[in-house]
Amino acid sequence: MKRIIAPKGTKDIFLPEIEKWQYIEEKIRGYFPRFLYKEIRTPIFEYSELFQRGIGTETEVVQKEMYTFKDKANRDLTLRPENTASVVRAAIENDLFNRVYPLRFFYIGPMFRYDKPQKGRFRQFHQFGVEVFGDESAQVDAEVIYSSYDFLKEINIKDIQLHLNSVGCENCRPKFLRDLEAEAEKKKNDLCIDCQRKIHTNPLRIFDCKNLKCIEISNDFPKIIDYLCEECGSHFEDVKSTLSIFKVKFDINSRLVRGLDYYTKTAFEISSNQLGAQDALLGGGRYNNLVKELGGADISGMGFAAGIERIILQLDDAKSKKGKMIFIAYQSLPLMNKAIQLAKSLWDKGYRAYVDYNSKNLKKQLKKANKIGIDYTFILGEDEIVTKSISIKNMKDYEQITIKQEELDKWLKNNI
Ligand code: HAM
Repeated sequence: MKRIIAPKGTKDIFLPEIEKWQYIEEKIRGYFPRFLYKEIRTPIFEYSELFQRGIGTETEVVQKEMYTFKDKANRDLTLRPENTASVVRAAIENDLFNRVYPLRFFYIGPMFRYDKPQKGRFRQFHQFGVEVFGDESAQVDAEVIYSSYDFLKEINIKDIQLHLNSVGCENCRPKFLRDLEAEAEKKKNDLCIDCQRKIHTNPLRIFDCKNLKCIEISNDFPKIIDYLCEECGSHFEDVKSTLSIFKVKFDINSRLVRGLDYYTKTAFEISSNQLGAQDALLGGGRYNNLVKELGGADISGMGFAAGIERIILQLDDAKSKKGKMIFIAYQSLPLMNKAIQLAKSLWDKGYRAYVDYNSKNLKKQLKKANKIGIDYTFILGEDEIVTKSISIKNMKDYEQITIKQEELDKWLKNNI
C-alpha cells in the first residue's frame, strides 16, 4: 500500500532532537517570567481578517503565505502565520488591558506560512515570543531587545548579531514614502514585477524583496532613518543609549523594515552567522497602532518572536542534555531486584536511569545500553554486592571504575 508521508514543510520531532525542544521550552518558561511576562495561549486558527488587517494586505505573508480555508459554515479562517495579531485580538476581546498588570505576555507555539521550504524554513514552524503593552518608553524597547539577546546567550547560542533600525511613525513616514515612491518610479523598469506593483501600493515592502537586483537598486533609495521626526529620533537615541547600559552591541541597518506592516519606531532582528540564507533567529519591534487598528483602545505594543527550529539548528548538544542517562546492568537474574532498588533510588533523586528486565546476560545488557546511547552503565555483580560497591562503565571511552555505595551521591553530583 502507498505510504502516507508528512506534508511538505512539516516535520516530526522525536529523539534525540526532542530533548533540545524540551530543553529550550523549559528555558523559555524559566527565563521570561523574570521580566514579569505571563504565558498566553491563543487559537491556532483565527478569522482571516485579523491577519489581513493586522499584518497588512501588501505584505508577502498575507499575499502569498497564508494557509486560508473555509470551514463547513463558510467562515473565512487562517492558520496563524504569527502570533502578535492574535495576542492583541485576545487582549482586546478578553479586556486584558484592564485586568492584567503589567501587560506582558509570552507564548510558545506553532505558526504556519506557505513558503518555499529550505534549511531553517518550514511551513509549520514554531515561535516563542513576548509582547508588552501600554509602555511607550524607549527603555522598554531596549529591555525587550536585551531579553531576546540575553536569552540566546543564556542557551549558549554563539555568533549572533543585533540589527537595529527605526521605521518612524505616521508623522515622519509619509514624506519618506513619497520620496521613496518617486525614487523607485525612476528605477521602475529595473525592478521585478512584484516591486513595480509595490511602488504605488506599499513602497516600504520593496526592501523585503529577495531579488538581488532589486536589493542592489534599493540600496540607493532614501533611508527612513534620515526622515525621523523629532520624537522618533529621540526615541531611537534613547533605545541605543539604553542598549549600551545593557551592554548589548548592535549595528544600524537602514534596510531593516521587517516583513509586517504594523511596526512603528523601533525595529530589530538578531541573526546568526552560522545559519546561511535563513539567518534571522528572531525579530520584532514596536507597534503603536495595532491595538487601535484591531478595534481596541489607543495602547502601544512592543515585542519579538524567535524561530525555534533555527535556534535548535545551533543548539549545542552538550548544553541541551537534560542529565546523562544511566543503565543499571545486573550480572545474573537474582541480582535484578538489587538493580531495581538502585534504579528507584536514582529516579527518586530525579536522575534518568534504565533497567532492562528482559536480558539475562551482562553482555546483551551492555549492547542495549550502547544502542540507547547511554552515558554510564552501573554494573551489579556478586563481587559488588559483597563489597557494597558499584562498578561504573563510561560508555564513551569504556573506562571502568569501582566505587563504594556510600560514595555514589558524590559521584552522581560530579558526573551526571
Ligand atoms: P517574523 O520576523 O515574521 O516576526 O518572525 C519571527 C521569527 O520567526 C523569524 O526571525 C524566524 O526565526 C522565524 N520564522 C519566520 N518564518 C519562518 C519559517 N517559515 N520557518 C522557520 N522559522 C520562521 C513575527 O512573526 C512577529 N510577530 C514578531 C513580533 C512580535 N513583533 C512584535 N512582536
